[in-house]
Amino acid sequence: MQQIDELAEYNQGRWEALAQADIAYSRPLLALDEDSARQWLQEQGGNPPEGLGDFRGKDVLCLASGGGQQSAVFGVLGANVTVFDLTAGQLQRDEEVAAHYGFPLQLVQGDMRDLSCFEDGTFDLVWQPYSLNFIPDAQPLFNEVARILRNGGRYRLEFANPYLFELDDTSWQSGGYRLTHPYLNGAEIQFEDPHWEVEASDGSSQRVLGPREFRHTLSSVLNSLIGLGFTLRASWENPTNGDPDAEPGSWEHFVAIAPPWLGFWFTYQPNH
Ligand SMILES: C[S@@+](CC[C@H](N)C(=O)[O-])C[C@H]1O[C@@H](n2cnc3c(N)ncnc32)[C@H](O)[C@@H]1O
Repeated sequence: MQQIDELAEYNQGRWEALAQADIAYSRPLLALDEDSARQWLQEQGGNPPEGLGDFRGKDVLCLASGGGQQSAVFGVLGANVTVFDLTAGQLQRDEEVAAHYGFPLQLVQGDMRDLSCFEDGTFDLVWQPYSLNFIPDAQPLFNEVARILRNGGRYRLEFANPYLFELDDTSWQSGGYRLTHPYLNGAEIQFEDPHWEVEASDGSSQRVLGPREFRHTLSSVLNSLIGLGFTLRASWENPTNGDPDAEPGSWEHFVAIAPPWLGFWFTYQPNH
């Protein structure tokens, strides 16, 4: 594995602990067929107007995407799949996926800020689930995503809704979810409680200290990608199944008031 800095080392430790605690992001999908794989993709939200398309024979990079979900989905749909992730424990789940389904996966351990292991124009799709917020500066990553995509290639990105990043369902106080942090690009988020409540597949739960995270403002993300030649194809908020009548301070109520994640599909069209 490449040299990594203090931040990556710290967050790698946190993700090893989260994987060990059996967080949902670390549970491989081992019962997929083509229909359920496609349905899973659709349920992730925000489909591009041209549709998801046929992944058979396409070169797909699951970026910061270990844990055995995207690798299984794209593998079952016939893509040539590469998974790049910081955390060995997460990539181990993708190994389980490859062994289970019997298709090859290329697994690479590293920090997403250094994608120099990939040649220019290698991929048709870069799929990045929630992970951008684990690095403070998105521009070097976006430069690399542009470099490793083919012309016409697609980038699917999800990140923390920057307007309310410091809040969650536990933030309910005196009749509201109160915003108090300045809206600054690249700023580290100081969570009131930096622990994640992790519910394991056996129903047990434990508190695990979470990774360090950073705010990326909407304009900084969109302007960086537009400047590199990306065209926005679709956007969405996630999740969309909140309930404004639920108990204030519950997850269902919180997400109805303040959707925690934003998602986007872009196409790389530098000569457009
Ligand atoms: C929320 S999980 C997403 C993976 C999951 N497959 C999913 O479906 O959402 C975030 C992933 O980002 C990885 N990660 C965190 N920081 C990273 C970095 N600097 N470079 C590469 N991967 C990173 C973690 O190891 C973890 O697997």
